Amino acid sequence: MPDDLPALPRQKIVLDLDWLPEPIAGPHAVTFLPRGRQVVVQHGQSVFEAGKAAGVYIPTTCGGKGTCGRCRVRVEGQARPPTYIERQFIPRSDLASNVRLACRLRVEDDITVTVLREDGIARGARD
Ligand code: FES
Repeated sequence: MPDDLPALPRQKIVLDLDWLPEPIAGPHAVTFLPRGRQVVVQHGQSVFEAGKAAGVYIPTTCGGKGTCGRCRVRVEGQARPPTYIERQFIPRSDLASNVRLACRLRVEDDITVTVLREDGIARGARD
């Protein structure tokens, strides 16, 4: 470095990495209770798609578009906070007990899912 250049003031550099896409992780295992059927899906696929792949029936009239609110599941494991659409369909008390819409819930870790009937009872529990 030449001696005649003025010294620049030191600056703190802050890296904001939030804008970077998340690293692709996975695949992840999704286990459907009560039968324990398990399927491995790619990171970011919906629980609804995982259910189809596992041959697990998830109630729907919209086919996974997020407009019917019938695809309720209870999830155990890491999951993002509920989406706006989930908050429109699911009462706050149910959201607090990890009830989610299968078509809006993205798989981002190994999870266990119980498909719920419309009355909130687990499918297969009394069927
Ligand atoms: S399948 Fe209709 S809201 Fe999820």
